[in-house]
Amino acid sequence: MFDDDRLIIFDTTLRDGEQSPGASMTLPEKLEVARALNDLGVDVIEAGFPIASPGDFEAVQSIARQIEGPTICGLARCNNADIDRAWEALKDSPRPRIHVFLATSAIHREFKLHMAKEEILRRAVEGVKRAKGYCDDVEFSPEDASRTELDFLVEVVEHAIEAGATTINIPDTVGYAVPHQYGAIFAHLKKHVRNIDRAILSCHCHDDLGLAVANSLCAVLDGARQVECTINGIGERAGNCSLEEVVMALRTRQDFYKVRTGINTRKLYQTSRMVSHVTGIQVQRNKAIVGQNAFAHEAGIHQDGMLKERSTYEIMNPEDVGLPRTELVLGKHSGRHALRQRVQDLGYHLNDEQLQRVFDSFKALADRKKVIYDADIEALAEAQMYAGPVLWVLEAVTCNAGSGTIPSAAVCLWNRDGTIIREATVGDGPVDAVFKAIERITGVEVELRDYRVRSVSVGEDAQGEAHVEAEYNGRILTGRAVSTDIVEASALAFLQVINRIALRKAQPRLHPQTEKEVVVGN
Ligand code: KIV
Ligand code: ZN
Repeated sequence: MFDDDRLIIFDTTLRDGEQSPGASMTLPEKLEVARALNDLGVDVIEAGFPIASPGDFEAVQSIARQIEGPTICGLARCNNADIDRAWEALKDSPRPRIHVFLATSAIHREFKLHMAKEEILRRAVEGVKRAKGYCDDVEFSPEDASRTELDFLVEVVEHAIEAGATTINIPDTVGYAVPHQYGAIFAHLKKHVRNIDRAILSCHCHDDLGLAVANSLCAVLDGARQVECTINGIGERAGNCSLEEVVMALRTRQDFYKVRTGINTRKLYQTSRMVSHVTGIQVQRNKAIVGQNAFAHEAGIHQDGMLKERSTYEIMNPEDVGLPRTELVLGKHSGRHALRQRVQDLGYHLNDEQLQRVFDSFKALADRKKVIYDADIEALAEAQMYAGPVLWVLEAVTCNAGSGTIPSAAVCLWNRDGTIIREATVGDGPVDAVFKAIERITGVEVELRDYRVRSVSVGEDAQGEAHVEAEYNGRILTGRAVSTDIVEASALAFLQVINRIALRKAQPRLHPQTEKEVVVGN
């Protein structure tokens, strides 16, 4: 157990984070994120909801088997099948935790569960006891706690601790709480739950009102010693409490909060980039801590102040969050060893085969591009991380556009079964023509929601990164790819979306809260 001033950072990027629209990840991607979270120093990784699908089960099991260090947690509703399945996935971890949840608010009791208070109490106790039969470390969440009557919440929490729960999480499931009121719930529980000293109180905030970080900080002031959060704040709807923001607030204002975390803050930026890459959810430019503008000073008066004394306008050092300097790192003549070292320094865990592919693309890039920056290396390394099953591979793409011509494209794709299919189409523009040709070949039609291209680093020869967001069956899917040729990057990003659809079609899964089957894309 930690000292009273040591806060437990519980990361749920792979569970609640993955519930954000379009954020689904493949098994290799989840493992890569779990390794990055381990390097970052989180105390608990919530790896998934094992009963949701065979894919979720496999992800939790693989993370439990391969990631040593943090506690590995699996989510379960308060029923035997969920809890047994969670344990099955977790049992090989050196530090397993089962997280059981059951809604307690009047709205959920009446409309979702159709259960009276007595039944909720009975089921909560049975669920915790069953989980306790498997492992010592059991977390209990009264879902929608922030809208639950305080006296009933006290009763449920007391019963859950009596049944063996070692962590009590107080979810603000719908992001309805406001800071002082949310903090007051913790103060109330501390005061009125008889056995509260036998459990750690945890906060879990959603960002519907943009208050997830503020609410979590208030909970800490009122006695929470575990904060549940996600990288980049991704999660259901508006997302969850952002790990990088809450951690840096606690660190920068340690004078006020007087608690510390075990997070290696110098890894924050690179972890944020990785999660953004694998989920396809871009970080907004002005996002605190990890956004592109977080440390950019535009106004002359600020720049002048910064030159005289940094602390005039900067409350954190960019190096403390691991913000890379734009620097020339490698050149055309750099060898495999130097590249491997740089890839490792940037925080990527690639195997020999993946490194060889990065090296080959690095050499090809060095022929086309005068200077190679860290951002280029990151893009090449990240391109290796989408290693999920792929149905279609891009063989070639060309397009024709210009004023006075009808935009057209020709695309050639390989199918996993070995066939090669070519298609030529016209479109509203060259990229539209490329996407149409891909849809015709694969037979998968999507509704394009967003399409963006940006340069990865600086200079006229910079690589372009294409981002595609598309809707399929009411779900949002994203794809991202990099190339010095932006038409090729666009085709690859679009094809990533198509491959994700093909993968998900084969594996339906269950949403933990709505209990409905989740279709492709989530
Ligand atoms: O927001 C929520 O209530 C949850 C629970 C499952 C803990 O994510
Ligand atoms: Zn949640």
